[in-house]
Amino acid sequence: MRILLLTHGFNSLSQRLYAELAADGHQLSVEFDIRDSVAEEAVARFAPAFILAPFLKRAIPASIWQHCPCLVVHPGVVGDRGPSALDWAIQEGEEAWGVTVLQANGEMDAGDIWASRTFPMRAATKADLYRREVTESALACVRESLSRVDEWRRGHWRPTPLSAAGGRGRQRPLMRQSDRRIDWHLDDTTTVLARLRAADGVPGVADALFGEPCHLYDAHPGPRDAGGEPGACIARRDGAILRATVDGSVWIGHVRRQGTQQMLKLPATEAFAGQAAALPERPAVLMRAADDYGELHYQESAGGRVGFLSFAFYNGAMGTDQCRRLEAAIRQVAARPTRVLVLTGGPEFWSNGIHLARIEAAESAADESWANINAMDDVCASVIGLTDRLTVAALRGNAGAGGCFLALAADLIWAHPGVVLNPHYKNMGNLYGSEYWTYLLPRRLAADAANRLVEGRLPVTAGAAAAMGLIDRCFGRAGADFEAQTRARAEQLAADPALSERLAAKLARRAADEAAKPLAHYRDEELARMHRNFYGFDPSYHVARYHFVHKTPQSWTPRHLACHREPGWRRADGAAE
Ligand code: COA
Repeated sequence: MRILLLTHGFNSLSQRLYAELAADGHQLSVEFDIRDSVAEEAVARFAPAFILAPFLKRAIPASIWQHCPCLVVHPGVVGDRGPSALDWAIQEGEEAWGVTVLQANGEMDAGDIWASRTFPMRAATKADLYRREVTESALACVRESLSRVDEWRRGHWRPTPLSAAGGRGRQRPLMRQSDRRIDWHLDDTTTVLARLRAADGVPGVADALFGEPCHLYDAHPGPRDAGGEPGACIARRDGAILRATVDGSVWIGHVRRQGTQQMLKLPATEAFAGQAAALPERPAVLMRAADDYGELHYQESAGGRVGFLSFAFYNGAMGTDQCRRLEAAIRQVAARPTRVLVLTGGPEFWSNGIHLARIEAAESAADESWANINAMDDVCASVIGLTDRLTVAALRGNAGAGGCFLALAADLIWAHPGVVLNPHYKNMGNLYGSEYWTYLLPRRLAADAANRLVEGRLPVTAGAAAAMGLIDRCFGRAGADFEAQTRARAEQLAADPALSERLAAKLARRAADEAAKPLAHYRDEELARMHRNFYGFDPSYHVARYHFVHKTPQSWTPRHLACHREPGWRRADGAAE
């Protein structure tokens, strides 16, 4: 079926739907919702059988929905209406929530219902629930809807009108900052966390730190016995600030500080560098209780043969100091007598490469980009250099750009089926990329397939990545199943009698590769190109980064997504455009 994705942006949900529906055999094109006339033109050129709207911030014009059926994904249970569906559900502690696919009509979120799903809620941020449960449910709803199209066309099936659907949802207003406000002298830790999670990634909770207004993000439970007056800042760790609540404490990882030039979302200790420096540091050891907050965490299997190193960097973005700490952690765990090291990234993202917001905030964006990519390369080199044990990158969450290529530094790559990979750099202002990708990618893909991937700039599902050999395995159902299976498979690897042979082959291959072309040469060549991206006369990377971190509204749809805008595009009726 020919499907046009009409969307505010190519976000995680749109990417997943795009990649999965393309794999199902549908013909897809994307148009960003910029202006009615632009969308109308896209519909005329592409002549879709269906329009799918996974992520819209305004209503579809009648000129479109009256002529072409439009399926809208709403992240709410049946009957729920309004722009803050998930925000209310999280903040009000709903135990289950859902996704509804409805057909656009003249009223926002009030169209006939094609499909719906519910899921149990987790203690997680809005963005995390959106990327997992909402995305998974939306995909199921969209597939179910598409499977009904034939019946619907023949008049054998009708979507359910909202008035007859009997859902428990209702019309809710836009959630305002006054609804999100935290009263530090009254609200307990559970309430504080719910408010912060309901507003994360956007818009954050308007609050103040050190008497200065800011928006808070990236909250984690802190110790119950932290001490301090409710609301007081009492310690720092890994870029986060520990803040007392009436019955405990919370770590605040990121803030957007008002009054600063750019209002970027930054680690709390960076946005309030002077004030935070005066707070006592509470460093976290690598091996500690899993619920004790910290970006890096290490644990070993019962027999001590397998190590699991997680690096839960907010949004998968890895700043220079975060890379340095990760590199030090890899060195530290390399001294442990394990046979397999599993790199588990973070629960939300495995990695998204260098930290573009911190680069934007730096005095010299070029210098910080340079420092960051060098630190990132050092992390990759430390993984490639672990020749005395098997390394596994276990992707619980998505990975993009340099973060994707960091995963390729491991011997084996496993991913949850819901993971979306973006193994390319070019979307960031034609960035050349480093992370030894010119060494790592050809180890997995033939030149033409590799070229298609990096030039195509499209998202790839974990399943498709496994099919093409970019990664090794894709397994697990929703929830903790992927992690349980990862532990069991890693144990099997460590117990395999053939492991010593495998490690000897790994060492020999690395030595042969090094003799053929030293790793340092790959790095030098890549960094020479990156140096031009950062310091050269073409500012594309700096411009693209600016728009990315400031979330500048889209002004056009990139050609690699809007295939109906390609010269020579043929419509279904055979007419060349
Ligand atoms: N640096 C800083 N922030 C980053 C980031 C990075 N490398 N990658 C993602 N983020 C942030 C986004 O700004 C967004 O912030 P928010 O919490 O304020 O909303 C959040 O992470 C989620 O990213 P988003 O783009 O909404 O996620 P997505 O799942 O829709 O898209 C990617 C995933 C990877 C395609 C997209 O985030 C991306 O292109 N990231 C940049 C990758 C890159 O070019 N890295 C540098 C080269 S190595």
